[in-house]
Amino acid sequence: MTPILEIDGVGLRIGVQDILRDVSLRLPQGGIVAILGSNGVGKTSLMRTISGVYQATSGAIRHQGEDITRLQSHEIVARGILQAPEGRQIFSNMTVRENLVIGGGPHGLAELDHVVSLFPALGERLSQGAGSLSGGEQQMLCIGRALMRKPSVLLLDEPSLGLAPKLVRFIFDLIERIRSEGYSVLIVEQNAKAALRVADTASVIEGGRIVIEGPARDLADDPRIAEAYLGGHVHVP
Ligand SMILES: Nc1ncnc2c1ncn2[C@@H]1O[C@H](COP(=O)(O)OP(=O)(O)O)[C@@H](O)[C@H]1O
Ligand SMILES: [Mg+2]
Repeated sequence: MTPILEIDGVGLRIGVQDILRDVSLRLPQGGIVAILGSNGVGKTSLMRTISGVYQATSGAIRHQGEDITRLQSHEIVARGILQAPEGRQIFSNMTVRENLVIGGGPHGLAELDHVVSLFPALGERLSQGAGSLSGGEQQMLCIGRALMRKPSVLLLDEPSLGLAPKLVRFIFDLIERIRSEGYSVLIVEQNAKAALRVADTASVIEGGRIVIEGPARDLADDPRIAEAYLGGHVHVP
């Protein structure tokens, strides 16, 4: 079956730096794929290359079998590839409802009830300022805002960043629930343990290239990944 998203040998060079090198991965329809790696290895750059903020300098990106490598970011959003960016980037001066409605695009308010049903904590705070939310609630809002457009691909950049362990578990439970509704999710994480719990397959990036990949279950038992749990780099023999 054609994957919903396919990255095929993508390279990204900015100035003289090779930020991504020969990155390939497949996100099947309805699947969860995790990209793991420590700080500065190119995870966010990969997200930005998929969403058209950066232009791949080699390779191809396909969505439902169609080449989207050269599309602009608004065209990529129009195809339903939506990102919950690193650091949330919600509008703190606006209410929760306004943040969600802004994400809504052509679906307008139609999706609001659905998003609120997934995140009841947001439903109770619709008229509250988004800046007054806790970190976990802000992450829900960030994901909820992307869901307002019923994305064909949901890109999550470090959803666990800065959250206490209990909230990390909560957010990842939500991600599983979102998947059970049929969404396809690509997650970038430093928290390998949390991401491997929900992912089907995972790839570890180091220095802009994939150094380990496989079924999440296998990677969870991989001693090289265990090292990454502790915050160290993954060493490849
Ligand atoms: N616009 C840019 N200009 C120059 N260097 C960049 C740019 N974007 C990212 N980089 C560099 O690419 C590398 C990977 O960054 P990033 O993708 O943010 O890593 P991660 O998300 O894994 O922490 C870093 O060395 C970073 O400085
Ligand atoms: Mg990043």
